[in-house]
Amino acid sequence: MNKVVIAALVSLAVSGHATPALSQEAAPGQKLFQQRCGACHQLETPRNGVGPHLLGVVGRTAGSVDGFRYSAALKGSGIAWTAETLETFLSNPAAMVRGTRMAQRFNNADERRAIIAFLRAQ
Ligand code: HEC
Repeated sequence: MNKVVIAALVSLAVSGHATPALSQEAAPGQKLFQQRCGACHQLETPRNGVGPHLLGVVGRTAGSVDGFRYSAALKGSGIAWTAETLETFLSNPAAMVRGTRMAQRFNNADERRAIIAFLRAQ
């Protein structure tokens, strides 16, 4: 494990308790986010890890976080992140953005929905 991943995991473990209560819809997504995305993405602080931080990702333009070295593919994609584009991306990132460095596909539709609801509630 590299340092960035360890730092992300440590800060996840620490931040787990301090998070304020979320709406019914977003709460299951919080746990799933930590499990599925948290090793690479920060949400509570604008700190980049293996992936860019996702603070305020809904409404953001793809590839726009300062200081993160995106793939040219994502940077040049022109995607605006909404619930719909996130749904497409998470189902199969490489199909939406050929050449992206985010490789994982998230095949469980219920989990995707919960995670996106959580991201929107931030
Ligand atoms: C193994 C590490 C890893 C995991 C796990 C991961 N991602 Fe990523 N993610 C990345 C990387 C790396 C990038 C940058 C890709 C690029 O530059 O092409 C990225 C990019 C993104 C972006 C684009 C952000 C932007 O600023 O344009 C979104 C949105 C995203 N990930 C969401 C998620 C969500 C939601 C999950 C969990 C369901 C997740 N990712 C899981 C590594 C990961």
